[in-house]
Amino acid sequence: MSKVRTAISYLKYFFRAQTKHDIHSPFVFNLLTTVIQNNELYYLYGPIEKLRNELLNDPAEVQVADLGAGSVVLKTSTRKISDIARHSLKPAKFGQLLFRLVNHFKPNTILELGTSLGITTLYMAMANSQTRVVSIEGSETIAQYARRNFEKLGIKNIQLTVGNFDDVLQSQLNGLNQLDGSASLTASLVFFDGNHRKEPTLRYFEQCLQYANNNSVFVFDDIHWSEDMEQAWECIKKHERVTLTIDLFFIGIVFFRKEQVKEHFVVRF
Ligand SMILES: C[S@@+](CC[C@H](N)C(=O)[O-])C[C@H]1O[C@@H](n2cnc3c(N)ncnc32)[C@H](O)[C@@H]1O
Repeated sequence: MSKVRTAISYLKYFFRAQTKHDIHSPFVFNLLTTVIQNNELYYLYGPIEKLRNELLNDPAEVQVADLGAGSVVLKTSTRKISDIARHSLKPAKFGQLLFRLVNHFKPNTILELGTSLGITTLYMAMANSQTRVVSIEGSETIAQYARRNFEKLGIKNIQLTVGNFDDVLQSQLNGLNQLDGSASLTASLVFFDGNHRKEPTLRYFEQCLQYANNNSVFVFDDIHWSEDMEQAWECIKKHERVTLTIDLFFIGIVFFRKEQVKEHFVVRF
């Protein structure tokens, strides 16, 4: 995505964004004030950010086969861990938002598409040790680092699967379904953070949607990253099962609550 395009897109977002005073939906107002704009510091943030710092200073080089849309900055297949940590991971602010979403909705199951070094996985897993987190990563070398990071922090509720989303997502969804013992995932959260292109994003969305219910929460990363991703976001908003979306520019949150009048919010974050 070009810098000019990002800037224009961000300006459009900035001037459209609502504050809590503009929001009349009690569900969204409550979410905004207690979760999205909650600046409270949780002690569990500390060990994760310490780990990120170690990764930011790790000069080791790894061979990476990119199965997704690629990186705007990292163009070679040999990458330093420090560069991956700098350019591919969500900043603390967003990891901490995922932590608060998990803390608030208490999903039984979390599915993450795109583990990378495991930072957002840790934020979600540490928010609730009872939650089962399934995370998928395409690169075995990167996944090894993520596993090491989960061990370092002693986190046991993460199941890391290595494979292309195209090949392994369906079996992971089937597995979650069986383990839940129900036809749909109860209060599940899915974080889509890999392969940021329209067609695959919509395909993964449709696949996960088959297992979603009224309480599910889907979070999409980089909804304004490219024109392609903006088109994907518009399709998701229009989908008949989607009732509520919240656009925070760098991520978008999607709900399926039937009790909600269909509405789309753009909120400053
Ligand atoms: C942006 S990073 C994830 C960052 C991580 N969620 C965080 O913020 O801590 C996206 C990851 O998805 C992986 N990925 C992209 N496309 C994929 C695909 N088709 N199948 C499996 N993994 C893929 C990449 O290897 C990369 O590590």
